[in-house]
Amino acid sequence: MSASTPAPRVAIIIVAAGSGTRLGEPIPKAFVELDGRSILSRSLDPVFGLAEPTQVVVVAPSSHVQRAREIVAQAAGPASDACSVVAGGDSRQASVASGLAALVSSIEVVLVHDAARALAPRSLFERVVAEVDRAGRGAIPGLAVTDTIKRVDASGTVLETVDRAQLSAVQTPQAFPRAELVAAYGAVDREFTDDAALIQHVGGSVAIVEGDPLAFKVTTPWDLRRAQQLLAEASPPARPSTSAFLRTGVGTDAHAIDEGQPLWLAGLFWPNEAGLAGHSDGDAVAHALCDALLSAAGLGDIGGIFGVDDPRLDGAHADVFLTETLRLLAVAGFAPSNASVQLVGNRPRFSPRKAEAEKRLTTLLGCPVSVSATTTDSLGFTGRGEGIAAIATALIREVPRTAPGPVTEHPVHAA
Ligand code: CTP
Ligand code: MG
Repeated sequence: MSASTPAPRVAIIIVAAGSGTRLGEPIPKAFVELDGRSILSRSLDPVFGLAEPTQVVVVAPSSHVQRAREIVAQAAGPASDACSVVAGGDSRQASVASGLAALVSSIEVVLVHDAARALAPRSLFERVVAEVDRAGRGAIPGLAVTDTIKRVDASGTVLETVDRAQLSAVQTPQAFPRAELVAAYGAVDREFTDDAALIQHVGGSVAIVEGDPLAFKVTTPWDLRRAQQLLAEASPPARPSTSAFLRTGVGTDAHAIDEGQPLWLAGLFWPNEAGLAGHSDGDAVAHALCDALLSAAGLGDIGGIFGVDDPRLDGAHADVFLTETLRLLAVAGFAPSNASVQLVGNRPRFSPRKAEAEKRLTTLLGCPVSVSATTTDSLGFTGRGEGIAAIATALIREVPRTAPGPVTEHPVHAA
């Protein structure tokens, strides 16, 4: 104990010296792994989180004292000054006695706890200490018995039904005034299964406080599985870094110039410009965006989703395609983070309406959309003014899935 730490008033004796016969593992029970850490290590978690300075005495099998020291040192960190490990005895009671012998003089309240109750929460430790402080007598956690209990004889014949209202299934940590516990241990000459029984045997009185289902004792392989499941539920596998939940997609589209059509591009109407041929309005920018979003989500492409022969899509504009694409993404559990499109073509002159186009598409998609335009130095069909192409990328992120809901009111269908 360092000079600066106040002398502890409370001690916790953690008995971990049993062999774990019923668990049936080749090593002593307290050293068996429970979701990656030993049962002993887990049982120490609440102990080092207590507000009050506490002496901790771990009672280990004599074969495992060194291993227990390593586990305690790791769990205690800077508090390891206040910890010790001693060898236990042949019975639980003998092991508790070894722990009692290691108490420092300042201790007034002693808690005895089974390492095998590896998931007992900190609140239980605090509750029994508070009750001992309040009433000056022993306090043990107990839970109401829910099964009907029968008294039976050696031949297996039921003798009577026991009134379960009078029963409590008790747990550890059990807390006692130090002097009373030490005196009781000095006085008894037979074995008891818990410390409260020993106190009562010498005439002491003990109170029950509310127990906790998590403080069950790992006794059998079934208990170990239950503890493992509870830990797995409490800490589901860590989500990979955020970037694992982002996906990118790419999409392209091209439409031939059709002098007889009005021009719709990037969600805008362009008066006095030659239009684009194609099913719907031929808005290559919007269609490339849809393809980028759908490809990011792994949902295919616009041709497969929107029926190309669907007469209801005749003349449909960007809002129809983008709204339905967003709905499909949401059902699949995605939302767009941003998108970017480049228009390739000689006409229209895009820069005067760039901001307007970006605003329109950003509104439709609910995420930043940037649009740029370029020409191809007279090369290819875009350079010869035969058509317009668009290339888009999209970044999408995982979000909670939404219900499929109705398709948009627009005349589209998912093929
Ligand atoms: N214990 C102990 N020393 C013993 C026997 C038991 O310190 N000689 C401890 C166990 O390590 C356990 C607690 O007392 O934390 C409750 O005992 P129990 O669940 O019976 O554990 P084991 O005795 O190890 O198991 P088994 O009875 O199946 O052999
Ligand atoms: Mg035992």
